[in-house]
Amino acid sequence: MARLSSFFVAILTLTPTAYSRHLRASKVFLDGRQVQNEYDYVIIGGGTAGLTVADRLTEDGKTTVLVIEYGVLSEAASLTTVAGGFSGMSDSQFMYDIRSVPQVNLRNRVISVLAGKVVGGSSAVNAMMTIRGTAEDYDRWGAFFGKNSHWTWEGLLPYFKKALNFVPPNADITRTANITYDTSFWGNTSGVYAGWPSYQFPATTAQMEAFKGLPGVEIASDSGSGVPGVYWYPTFMDPKTVLRSFAKTGHYDNVKRANYHLVTQSKVTKIVLDGTTATGVSFVPAPARGQPGNTAAPVTTVTARKEVILAAGGVHSPQVLQVSGIGPKKVLSAAGIDTIVDLPGVGQNFQDHGMISASFQFARIPQSARPSSDDLRTNRTLSTWSSQVWAANRTGPNSIATGNSAAWLSFPVISPRSAKLSADLAAQNHAAYLPTGSDPTVAAGYRAQMLSYASALSNNNTAFYNLVLQGGSASGLLVDLHPLSRGTVNVNPANPHNTEPQVDYRALANPLDTTIMGDIVRFTRKYYLDNPKTKDWGGREVSPGASVTTDEQLATFLSSSLSPSVYHPAGTCAMMPLELGGVVDEELKVYGVKNLRVVDASVIPTLPGANTCQTVYAIAEKAADLIRYGAPKV
Ligand SMILES: Cc1cc2nc3c(=O)[nH]c(=O)nc-3n(C[C@H](O)[C@H](O)[C@H](O)COP(=O)(O)OP(=O)(O)OC[C@H]3O[C@@H](n4cnc5c(N)ncnc54)[C@H](O)[C@@H]3O)c2cc1C
Ligand SMILES: *[C@@H]1O[C@H](CO)[C@@H](O)[C@H](O)[C@H]1NC(C)=O
Ligand SMILES: *[C@@H]1O[C@H](CO)[C@@H](O)[C@H](O)[C@H]1NC(C)=O
Ligand SMILES: *[C@@H]1O[C@H](CO)[C@@H](O)[C@H](O)[C@H]1NC(C)=O
Ligand SMILES: *[C@@H]1O[C@H](CO)[C@@H](O)[C@H](O)[C@H]1NC(C)=O
Ligand SMILES: *[C@@H]1O[C@H](CO)[C@@H](O)[C@H](O)[C@H]1NC(C)=O
Repeated sequence: MARLSSFFVAILTLTPTAYSRHLRASKVFLDGRQVQNEYDYVIIGGGTAGLTVADRLTEDGKTTVLVIEYGVLSEAASLTTVAGGFSGMSDSQFMYDIRSVPQVNLRNRVISVLAGKVVGGSSAVNAMMTIRGTAEDYDRWGAFFGKNSHWTWEGLLPYFKKALNFVPPNADITRTANITYDTSFWGNTSGVYAGWPSYQFPATTAQMEAFKGLPGVEIASDSGSGVPGVYWYPTFMDPKTVLRSFAKTGHYDNVKRANYHLVTQSKVTKIVLDGTTATGVSFVPAPARGQPGNTAAPVTTVTARKEVILAAGGVHSPQVLQVSGIGPKKVLSAAGIDTIVDLPGVGQNFQDHGMISASFQFARIPQSARPSSDDLRTNRTLSTWSSQVWAANRTGPNSIATGNSAAWLSFPVISPRSAKLSADLAAQNHAAYLPTGSDPTVAAGYRAQMLSYASALSNNNTAFYNLVLQGGSASGLLVDLHPLSRGTVNVNPANPHNTEPQVDYRALANPLDTTIMGDIVRFTRKYYLDNPKTKDWGGREVSPGASVTTDEQLATFLSSSLSPSVYHPAGTCAMMPLELGGVVDEELKVYGVKNLRVVDASVIPTLPGANTCQTVYAIAEKAADLIRYGAPKV
């Protein structure tokens, strides 16, 4: 590994305390004037996927890479603290400030669009739930391309294993909490860890047990096994330090290579094209939070000898393409941008998971299932103990992020009308639920997706239902894993270059979403309140409330409280055939442009039934091989 002392002189404008740790690592710049003129690869966005790809491409010690990141490089405790899982996203300095357009089916509510703005991207601020989808979720991607695609469960499993370093829970907690896992679904070489807390509330285990015996519910041996069911899953946490493990810690901090450069606080304004070949990237100093871009800011342009790799995430990658002249001609013309490549899918097919704000409380959790997470809030002896063991040994409840057990269930298991909804979805005039004037290729892609979901609604291979167990009273964390509605992320026509894009979830645009979510609420009721294993827990439905029972009442509840986002923006640069509205091909190359790939959550064609971070790591690992070797190689 190269010694980097000669590079330190380049770091003139840094504040010593914030950056001294990283002077030993790869070269970091604060100012565009310090970067080289040329690199082999220029990566836009130092987030989850961007840093993973940069690490792999520079492994040979020769290939030169520049990563350009909008946010800062930070050691803040808010990013690394695991307790509760929300401290990163609560620190506004590391989050973009984006609000959706008013949601017409949600009483014109405006939704906060959360995404990480810091080195590490959303992996630095997420809730650390470490989950992958079912095998059918990934086979669906390949099926859009026909029979021979390598974008399948089999084709991704080696990259799921490569992406994370699984460290099993300690023997004590494994036994007392009844945790099951199977290391054959995991790897142990990555710098990004999947670890486990050293404590679980006995009430969590009891809530897991309460799923056993419900008709059709399978208990999976491991969260990585690719089947729906109820199971335990790890946390994006290094178990040695009990700190968040993320793209920065795994793919930057400990990588000491002279050929790996990172420039922070820099906003990419454009992909430079020579005809339809990507040749470089332009960027400016990132404007301060709340400030519009500065049109007089000094522009730096770097050349990419081999490729430009766009990894700005589900919200910003379509914006970067559109401002560079790659996107739907109608959208670009309205914003006064010259169209270089008319690519109708850019910014369309926008998806996120929907969060239903159901809430249940329990008055009499039996002693055998105590302490519960409620006790931690109400019992001083317990909370004092919790603080003491954390301070002494970094153990106890503070080592838990958002939890480690949940149900991920197929639709036939939760609803008696799966066959009917499946038939209704297949029979829809799908295009009617897209924005008017959607391109025919985008409509064809939507139809292909809906037909795939119609079949999934009536089988038991795709999870639609997700309830995260909280070891006590529960609110939120009830999720629709496959919303049918599709939104858009397009540049703001009034100011495409210096404002955030217009994010429209188009929540509940497809009316079947309301029906599906209604059944998700009904099943949750049955599980919590009409379950032989927990019926003496004194359960009470706080929200939506026992009187909200008919389809119409549930629809009203959803319109007033649904969140169309669990912060998993995806699909806006979809990997789909061009004739199905795709933006990138199976090699993640942008259609119609040479030397440009997209590698991040935006290429996900249909969301997996899982939180998205593990999937993004696997996509990035696979992309690195496609870039280096021209084919998957594991
Ligand atoms: C609050 C929150 C909670 C979440 N919880 C979970 C969870 O518990 N489990 C889970 O699996 N997933 C979770 N996710 C989702 C998961 O973290 C993301 O899907 C994943 O990290 C996305 O990776 P990405 O590479 O696509 O984008 P990101 O990691 O967001 O990276 C994009 C990067 O590009 C940079 N960028 C954007 N535009 C520009 C520009 N113009 N110039 C330069 N740089 C730019 C950004 O600053 C960012 O660093 C959560 C996400 C959030 C926001
Ligand atoms: C642990 O799981 C086994 C197998 O399902 C079950 O029989 C046992 O009751 C569980 N133990 C606890 C404490 O829940
Ligand atoms: C890592 O995985 C390999 C192969 O599965 C196994 O042989 C080895 O013991 C594991 N190492 C550690 C430290 O767990
Ligand atoms: C799916 O599970 C449900 C509930 O257990 C069951 O009734 C149904 O037969 C299963 N369907 C298939 C296709 O296996
Ligand atoms: C509070 O917690 C302590 C430690 O778990 C326990 O011994 C005690 O019984 C609890 N008190 C109440 C009132 O539940
Ligand atoms: C911390 O761990 C040590 C070793 O296991 C143990 O002896 C000690 O009691 C623990 N401290 C607290 C406060 O629990």
